Amino acid sequence: MNFSSDTAAPAHPKVIEAIAAANQGNEPSYGGDAVTARLRALLATLFETEDFDFWICASGTASNALALSVLCSPIGAIACHEEAHIERDERGAPEFFTGGAKLRLLPGHGAQIDEEALRQALALNNPDFVHETPLETLSLTNLTECGTAYPAAQVAHYAELAKAEGLNTHLDGARLGNALVSTGASPAEMSWKAGIDVLTLGLTKTGAIGCEIILLFGKMRAAFGRLQARAKRSGHMPPKMRFLAAQAEAMLTDDLWLSLAANANQSAKELANLLCAQPGVSLAYPTAGNEVFCVLPKEIEARIIKAGVKCYPWPGGPYRFVCSWATPQSDLDAMRELLAET
Ligand SMILES: Cc1ncc(COP(=O)(O)O)c(C=O)c1O
Repeated sequence: MNFSSDTAAPAHPKVIEAIAAANQGNEPSYGGDAVTARLRALLATLFETEDFDFWICASGTASNALALSVLCSPIGAIACHEEAHIERDERGAPEFFTGGAKLRLLPGHGAQIDEEALRQALALNNPDFVHETPLETLSLTNLTECGTAYPAAQVAHYAELAKAEGLNTHLDGARLGNALVSTGASPAEMSWKAGIDVLTLGLTKTGAIGCEIILLFGKMRAAFGRLQARAKRSGHMPPKMRFLAAQAEAMLTDDLWLSLAANANQSAKELANLLCAQPGVSLAYPTAGNEVFCVLPKEIEARIIKAGVKCYPWPGGPYRFVCSWATPQSDLDAMRELLAET
């Protein structure tokens, strides 16, 4: 039973086929190829706009850090949740890539920023006060790090509050597909229509090999040259971009990514129900997507560990169980049997 991470899952066969199909003859390097051109058209349809530029990276950390590097200056600050991946899990990459921007950490249950905390931070923001680092950017994550989902209307509301104070907005969408399936929002509604300036759209966890797209919307297109230059400088300018674009094309064609995210969410729901049917088990956070955060009684924790179930003890006490597009029904059935043992 492997519920360790959606990055432990294999890539979807259509992604592998797309890479093989892209492996024909010579193609211009660095994104000048035909597959990347087709991807642009696909993204325009998916996001219902032509007013964007994009870049592809192989990891979420690189795409977040590069995105933030064009959203926040070295002498500015990025407001984010205190459990945000950019704070907890990126080894200072956002600070490094921005050349020294600070992260301003905000509280809130389930890794969602508390509105009052955001309002207070914005109200205190004073770019003219030389001693304090002013907020320049708001970064949200959807699906959040605790597996909850912001509805698109809440993203829009927070973006509006931030923009009223002159901030830019970023959305870490490492699991965007899971959040879209959960909330019913469209990619456009969850991004530029909600006031998001730069989206990092993750496809790796959803079923690609390694493919994260940075989308710059509207006025942020003016920063595309800087983004490319920073990508080059930091070693994130893949010469054979077509093979990254091929992954994205396979994932986004016919909404494969959303059906894979729906599979993962459905498995997580089933797993959450199995676990919560046990006396003493409770959800630490609602299971909106493909991650289940559960508080386990000692006896069940011991049984799960003894059986070698792969899951992750989360800071603060709960266990995190992650499902993917490829979670086999046999893993869920084995968990049902394990929990039924007396
Ligand atoms: C919310 C979030 N953002 C970004 C990432 C990207 O991380 P990586 O650099 O491992 O692709 C992850 C991975 O766990 C994540 O959970």
